[in-house]
Amino acid sequence: MLVAMIEVKGLTKKFGSTLAVDDLTFIVKPGIVTGFLGPNGAGKSTTMRMILGLDRPTAGTATINGQPYRALKQPLRTVGSLLDAKWVHPNRSAHAHLRWMAASNNLPVARVDEVLGLVGLSDVAGKNAGGFSLGMAQRLGLAGALLGDPEVLLFDEPVNGLDPEGIVWIRKFMQQLAAEGRTVLVSSHLLTEMSLTAHQLIVIGKGRLISDSTVDEFVDRSTKSTVRVRGPRLDALRAMLQQAGIDVIDEPTTNTLIASGASTDQIGDLAAASGLALHELAGHTGSLEEAFMNLTADQVEFHGSASESNPAAQSLEAQS
Ligand SMILES: Nc1ncnc2c1ncn2[C@@H]1O[C@H](COP(=O)(O)OP(=O)(O)O)[C@@H](O)[C@H]1O
Ligand SMILES: [Mg+2]
Repeated sequence: MLVAMIEVKGLTKKFGSTLAVDDLTFIVKPGIVTGFLGPNGAGKSTTMRMILGLDRPTAGTATINGQPYRALKQPLRTVGSLLDAKWVHPNRSAHAHLRWMAASNNLPVARVDEVLGLVGLSDVAGKNAGGFSLGMAQRLGLAGALLGDPEVLLFDEPVNGLDPEGIVWIRKFMQQLAAEGRTVLVSSHLLTEMSLTAHQLIVIGKGRLISDSTVDEFVDRSTKSTVRVRGPRLDALRAMLQQAGIDVIDEPTTNTLIASGASTDQIGDLAAASGLALHELAGHTGSLEEAFMNLTADQVEFHGSASESNPAAQSLEAQS
């Protein structure tokens, strides 16, 4: 398979006075799931629409396998996408919908049954898509994205509104597509979900690039580990830690030291070597959502627009 990838360079989009996407540059590589993360309004959908030739950039370029979308001869054979699952004609059956897509894109009709099988919709192929649940509509959208057996796939918030079972199914599905060597870009505003799905993580806020690294690097960098240390000889403990080059702050109300930059093992060993008793030694790692909130706290555009069903968006608001 030829090297399939998405390349975005200096990509910028203005809507009137709103700078929706601000000089974004990144590469999406094949063989792994790349997460595209940012709070609501960060510019994820606009970026994806520009990659897919649906929005015209104000500046910069987006290419797929080195070509802009509009230059692709048979676009569905190169790139599949799911931006909005509800665009299906409600009175058309799942099978008819895909058959129409296949015919209008010069794709073999035999592929329709194949993709219906891939997404687990074979049994409801003849049912009207209008009666589909959100989860089923998402599966139908995925089937459409896969119709041309493309090397590159873009999914915009594919797990929004799905039940836990549907979320796990989609997550595994994306990982399988990547394992087949495809280039997979999937957006979300939920860091925990992304950390379970993606290998690489591109984080944006207010249209700007905040971070581009592996998920593990991002988590290590963003979540601060601290250790709570308490003992009868607090002053001696503090002096010992400081001498070892460990950052210490006091939590006076509880007579506890909060150390950072060392593990519980290291601190326990140091205390033993100094003959200092410990009454408390507890590690704490900041949560992923905490890290994401800290990082994007000043990047959240909308206040008061988070949906009720979206706890992460609510906590993002509570933060600011
Ligand atoms: N068609 C449009 N016209 C005007 N503003 C838009 C349009 N589409 C998006 N925006 C604005 O661009 C910004 C980014 O939106 P969007 O790309 O949808 O973010 P995300 O997908 O990360 O939630 C927001 O401020 C949004 O209001
Ligand atoms: Mg969006």
